[in-house]
Amino acid sequence: MAVVRAHRPGRIVVLARLGLAMALVATLGAGSASQPLAAEAGLAPKCAYADTLTRYRATSDWYRSLLDTRYRLSRAYAPADLVRANRSGASGPGSIRRIALADLTAMYRAARAAGAPFAIQSAYRSYAQQVSTFNRWVLEDGYASALLGSARPGHSEHQLGTVLDLKTPGGPPPWDVADWGTTRAGAWLARNSWRYGFIVSYPRAKSPAATCYRYEPWHVRYFGRTIATRIHKSSLAAREWLYLKGATTTWSGGSPNPTPVPTPSPIPSPTATPSADPADAPSALPTDQPASPSVDPSPSVDPSPSVDASPPAEASPSVDPSPPVEASPSADVPMP
Ligand code: DAL
Ligand code: ZN
Repeated sequence: MAVVRAHRPGRIVVLARLGLAMALVATLGAGSASQPLAAEAGLAPKCAYADTLTRYRATSDWYRSLLDTRYRLSRAYAPADLVRANRSGASGPGSIRRIALADLTAMYRAARAAGAPFAIQSAYRSYAQQVSTFNRWVLEDGYASALLGSARPGHSEHQLGTVLDLKTPGGPPPWDVADWGTTRAGAWLARNSWRYGFIVSYPRAKSPAATCYRYEPWHVRYFGRTIATRIHKSSLAAREWLYLKGATTTWSGGSPNPTPVPTPSPIPSPTATPSADPADAPSALPTDQPASPSVDPSPSVDPSPSVDASPPAEASPSVDPSPPVEASPSADVPMP
């Protein structure tokens, strides 16, 4: 039987331990003086239910608008550049912001090429649509359950116009599948959507504690490739990452770099002889043709975006100044 010897630490060991303890106290002190430890650890505050307007709430803030059970958009928030989401090649109803179209197209083509095609279940939802969506889930499941699966009006990321619920083509709604995340499309998206700028907002490992909602493998939000890569590499849920980068205080998460929708055709130069018919004049506006970006699985180059500490502003980061086209509500079917 081994004899356990009483061990008295020597003087040097005691001093070393004291030093370590002092260093720990200094670290903790610095943490609480500058920013909360929770934020340092990358943790978002506990989910709370309130109706606080989110800090970054202009449509140009689409990549840094924090929406959860506490923070919301205004009733009037509506993006002005919605296009039909099926222009990406993925079938299904609804609209998305034009800034997400090129990357959605690339993602759809890559998923299809990998034998994991997806279709669209639900896309942009206005405040008014979310009222009826949420109420329908309350009727179906009761208020407490609806709160975990559906955002209250103003709180839904779908109102941003950069969010999609995806499904298997020809299949039922993804929430009617036992675990849609284990299907071909669901598993492919979990592994690859970030490469195209899309993040699964409510992943299994983080839901509902860090995301405030149940696991939703079908719900993807567009951040652009630059920011989506950062979120993915952080291993944080998007909500945690947004908190960490100051979405409720001063933004330090950088700027997005949405992949531009290719210009369809070169603009012809005017002829020397003016035409009598003004309809013949070359148009300055891009035509409304389907985007056809290449299937590019490699993330675009990160141009070291600047730290933007400015308060909410309306200046649009969009590369496409064209007016709204084809905005239309999605089909009236139940959706979380
Ligand atoms: N199902 C998500 C939480 C929504 O309603 O936006
Ligand atoms: Zn959704």
